[in-house]
Parts: sequence; structure tokens; C-alpha cells
Amino acid sequence: MPTHTFEKVNLHTERLLLRPLTQADAPDLYELRSDPRVMRYHSTTPWQSIALAQALIQRDQKAMAEGEYLRFGIQRLSDGKFLGSCGLFNLDQQCRRAEIGYELNFAAWGFGYMHEALVELIAFGFTEMSLNRIEADVDPRNARSVLSLERLAFQKEGHLRECWIVGDEVCDSLVYGLLLSEWQTKKSGVEK
Ligand SMILES: CC(C)(COP(=O)(O)OP(=O)(O)OC[C@H]1O[C@@H](n2cnc3c(N)ncnc32)[C@H](O)[C@@H]1OP(=O)(O)O)[C@@H](O)C(=O)NCCC(=O)NCCS
Repeated sequence: MPTHTFEKVNLHTERLLLRPLTQADAPDLYELRSDPRVMRYHSTTPWQSIALAQALIQRDQKAMAEGEYLRFGIQRLSDGKFLGSCGLFNLDQQCRRAEIGYELNFAAWGFGYMHEALVELIAFGFTEMSLNRIEADVDPRNARSVLSLERLAFQKEGHLRECWIVGDEVCDSLVYGLLLSEWQTKKSGVEK
């Protein structure tokens, strides 16, 4: 997997712009990450301070410049509204593998925005980053996220029991994976 720098990458879809976060996004990112509905199955509890958003964006800017991971803010083209974020994390160069993560403002659920963003992000991962595998870690109770993954042809590969402890809550985790070969088959429209 070639080493990348991601800080200048922008992706476009029909309704969305995917672009690196800037400090101007801190209030929107804080609103997103402090919403208990969005954070219900996250690996951390809802944020209590905007300083966490500012610190995440600062960390992103360094990580994106060094190609350590990739996170985009998702902006709606029609009105410029910040809808959420998505990215590829835990990059493993040798195994050409990454973990996908995503979150959408509650008001934007149910319109297919994340599907649209992830189609483009996954294409970028398999083509520009030469990934061979994209994986996801999702709470089995997170029905919307499970549906989003399955709609993108991710395969369920395993169930990890009591994998996370978030606050005081012990949570299971499902592992999902999408392989380059499966993505290419789906893209070419060939059914196996
Ligand atoms: C996971 C999450 C992004 C899913 O949001 P979502 O809006 O359901 O996701 P999608 O973009 O896949 O949209 C699919 C929905 O939009 C609908 N939709 C409407 N217009 C659409 C269009 N043009 N194209 C596709 N879907 C469309 C679909 O029917 C579907 O709704 P339904 O499930 O009620 O039938 C969202 O629930 C979220 O942010 N959760 C909190 C964070 C989180 O859990 N992240 C994942 C951690 S593993």
C-alpha cells in the first residue's frame, strides 16, 4: 500500500462533498459527538466539551498529513450543512487493510447520505489506497449501521463477546469485512 498524504483530498458525490475537517467544524463536530442518539453504540460516551472536538481536529490534521488515517467531514452541497464524518482508520500497510468508521447527524438519518458517502470512500480505499480489505466493528444492536454495512455488501465474519466496555456498559461486537475481490465483482454487476 503506497504511503499517502490525505490532507488535500476531496471527494464528491451527487449530493455531498467529503473533505478534511478544519477547526471551523469544531462546533458541528461537538454537536454530533455530544448527541446520545448518535453516540449510543460508539466506543466512547457522549462528549461533554468542545475542547474534545478541537483536539480531534488537530490530531486529524497531523494524521492526515502523515497518511496515518483518513477522516472526512461530510458536507451537503445544496446548503453547505455539515452532516457528519467518515473515514478509514487502523491502516495496516503490510496487509493492505483498514477499518471503516462513520457517523451522521441524527436529523440526516434515513436519506441515504451515509450510503452515498461510503460508496465513494470505499472506492477511494480500494483504488487510490490499494486496500485489499476494509473491515468494520459494530455493536449487534446498532441496526441502522448493520443495515448500512450489508447494503454495501460487507459480510458478517464474527461475533466478539463482551469486546468493549463503554462507560459501565459491557458490549458485544460484530466484525464485518469487505474484500477488494468482492467489491470488484459487485461493481462490475456480475453475480456469483
Ligand atoms: C449508522 C448511520 C450512519 C446510518 O444512517 P442511515 O441514514 O440509516 O444510513 P444510510 O445512508 O445507509 O441510509 C439508509 C436509509 O436512507 C434511506 N434512503 C432514502 N433516500 C435514499 C437514497 N437516495 N439512497 C439510499 N438510501 C436512501 C434508506 O431507505 C434507508 O432508510 P431505512 O433504513 O429507514 O430504510 C447512522 O445511524 C448513525 O450515524 N448512527 C450513529 C453512529 C454510528 O452508529 N456509526 C456506526 C458505528 S459502527
